Amino acid sequence: MDKSFTMGFFDDNKLLTPPDDRVDGKQKVTGTAKYAAEYIVDNLVYGVLVGSTIAKGSIQSIDITAAKKAPGVIDIISHQNNIPLEKFSDAKKAKDAGAGLRIFYSNEIFSSGQPIALVVADHFEQAQYAAGLVKVTYTEAPAETDFLAKAAAEKNNKFGDDKIRGDKDAWNNATVKIEAEYSQPAEVHSPMEMHATIAVWTADDKLTVYDKNHAVKDVQGTIANMFGLKKENVLVQAEFVGGGFGSGLRSWPHSFAAIIAAKKLNRPVKVVVSRPQMFTMVGYRPHAWQRVALGANADGTITGAVHESITNTSTYENFNENSTGITKVLYNFQNLHTRYKTVPLNFATPIWMRAPGEATGSFALESAMDELAYALKMDPLELRLKNFAEKDLDSGLPWSSNFLKDCYDTAAAKFGWANRKATPRSTRLGDWWVGHGMGVGTWGAWRLKATARGRLDINGNLLLQSATSDMGPGTGTAMVAIANNVLGVPKEKIKFELGNSSFPDSPAQGGSFTVASVGSAVNDVCSAIKEKLLQVANETDNNFKDAKAADVIFKDGSIALAANPAASVSYTQLLHNKGLKDIDITKSSASGEETKKYSFNSYAVHFAEVHVHAYTGVVRVKRFVSCVDAGKIVSEKTAASQIKGAVVWGIGMALMEEQQVDHRYGRILGNDFAGYHIPVNADVPEIDVLFVNKPDPYLNAMGSKGLGEVGLIGSAAAIANAVFNATGKRIRQLPVTPDKLI
Ligand code: MOS
Repeated sequence: MDKSFTMGFFDDNKLLTPPDDRVDGKQKVTGTAKYAAEYIVDNLVYGVLVGSTIAKGSIQSIDITAAKKAPGVIDIISHQNNIPLEKFSDAKKAKDAGAGLRIFYSNEIFSSGQPIALVVADHFEQAQYAAGLVKVTYTEAPAETDFLAKAAAEKNNKFGDDKIRGDKDAWNNATVKIEAEYSQPAEVHSPMEMHATIAVWTADDKLTVYDKNHAVKDVQGTIANMFGLKKENVLVQAEFVGGGFGSGLRSWPHSFAAIIAAKKLNRPVKVVVSRPQMFTMVGYRPHAWQRVALGANADGTITGAVHESITNTSTYENFNENSTGITKVLYNFQNLHTRYKTVPLNFATPIWMRAPGEATGSFALESAMDELAYALKMDPLELRLKNFAEKDLDSGLPWSSNFLKDCYDTAAAKFGWANRKATPRSTRLGDWWVGHGMGVGTWGAWRLKATARGRLDINGNLLLQSATSDMGPGTGTAMVAIANNVLGVPKEKIKFELGNSSFPDSPAQGGSFTVASVGSAVNDVCSAIKEKLLQVANETDNNFKDAKAADVIFKDGSIALAANPAASVSYTQLLHNKGLKDIDITKSSASGEETKKYSFNSYAVHFAEVHVHAYTGVVRVKRFVSCVDAGKIVSEKTAASQIKGAVVWGIGMALMEEQQVDHRYGRILGNDFAGYHIPVNADVPEIDVLFVNKPDPYLNAMGSKGLGEVGLIGSAAAIANAVFNATGKRIRQLPVTPDKLI
């Protein structure tokens, strides 16, 4: 690899740091970590949202007589008495502002559960009680909520995104071919912390919001735009986030409701989205229909492929998550036809949800690869090795690094894949059929522009700040590990602050790019502080008079001569020598020419063992092994937790998660954790996570790619494929519930 990119700080063969506990773990488990709804604000009142009970039509009347008389009620805000807001009230400008549904803007109804009124009271319970007294009459129109019916009607019509590589019909002329349709219901993010906003107008044109999101700068921009404010007059704080998974990548109507109410009442207002409202107000993974066709020679060389995908959006915004992307890059498909489009339905707008596009697309592609392997009577692992892509066929670029083959070898050995029985329904343990399956994932690796401030003070403490987020992966823990490695300040003396829009500009936390992006800024700022320290040492300490960067070591808060480690001087002493109270540097970092030369991607290979009960169809995931190529791992413990969490998502996707709809009313059913099933501890086996841990030579100084999402890609297919191996039943409609197996 090219050493110039690593600046010599990282040894290829070792972990950057020993496994680390989370820097904020204690705060989280002792309850001192503060989440958006927990901020103490003077004079605060509470808002509860009323949702529409119809899925399409318009509001005829809102009767607030009874609600208004209820104890503690201060105001009830709806489109009937909304305050005029510059951009918000202008349809065209509001659309430009990109905020989606304009809450309280008109009497139009686009989806069931759409927020139509906010009841504000002295106490939360009073607001909740009064919300039940608001009487709304509607003019109802026929709503469209049946996604599979809509997709079936649309699949023969034109697709917006339609791409052909080579011969689009090649699959059909192949010796061995398979063709199948797959579907996946909408899935809901379901973070532990519900979305919430506390809005505080600190002046006529100045606003502070404590808001659950993982995109403080984006939320700041949207709010400024929506309410005609200067960006710097909007302060967004989201220091701790109790899970987000994409739902916090944008602003949602409840936040605007809180801001509008706070303006109208001239006092702080808090709005917390209830668990049932989490199913209709803050996004979800869209419904998906997919068709995959594959054709191969008898030796397993795939000669042609097709991947079509349709997902839903709302009727007022287009949310696009092109789920055919993975098929363009994962295998050596010289002849490929991909098509994608969205269809509008009477639901709220979907949003990115962990591994958006690829989680969905990989279920279809990796199920189809399994189907082809059986058709060929070939080992599914061998089929994948046979069709390994030597470069990115979509962009034509070489891989920056690709250790997918290492993932195959390592995971297969650990799992014992060689002992798998190829014939379905051939292993039984008591009342349980035993099956083994595999799936593969890939996800792009990006380094976005990010900025960090580093301040090394006279006591040797390092404060780092960046307007990035931590929705749970452990951003601070990774950043402290990077800073410790680069600058040699002991970990306990480093503090990383985030989740505040006034900090130096960084991207939202999404796309698995935080370590690669913000980590690069931290790396650069620490490198700049080192340079400054060496310069001070040159000037103020005779031992270091002629020392160059290559002659010294930065370790444990001191600079030492490599040739004579006894000659050392502490950072504290250097600042004293020069009469400095601190070294305070802010640096931006971004990708460069390398993105034009290479294709950057992470990989995951999953192996699953399932037991399927012969009489009830209950599926138990018994073993799971994932090996991941995410470049250099900067924080081993949190990285492994990311993959484990993603695999748990794969279990949920494969076996449980389903946002059910009552089409008579266009309404979401089971909008709580009794009705919407996600895996609990008893559903999750020990998950073995292995990392290739080889640095990417081009993406950033750490050699790190991304890993928050890739663990979910291909993991649901691995389970569904194992179910086929166990039972001989191919379930193409997620989730694989017992009723489909008996
Ligand atoms: Mo992720 S869905 O890109 O937060």
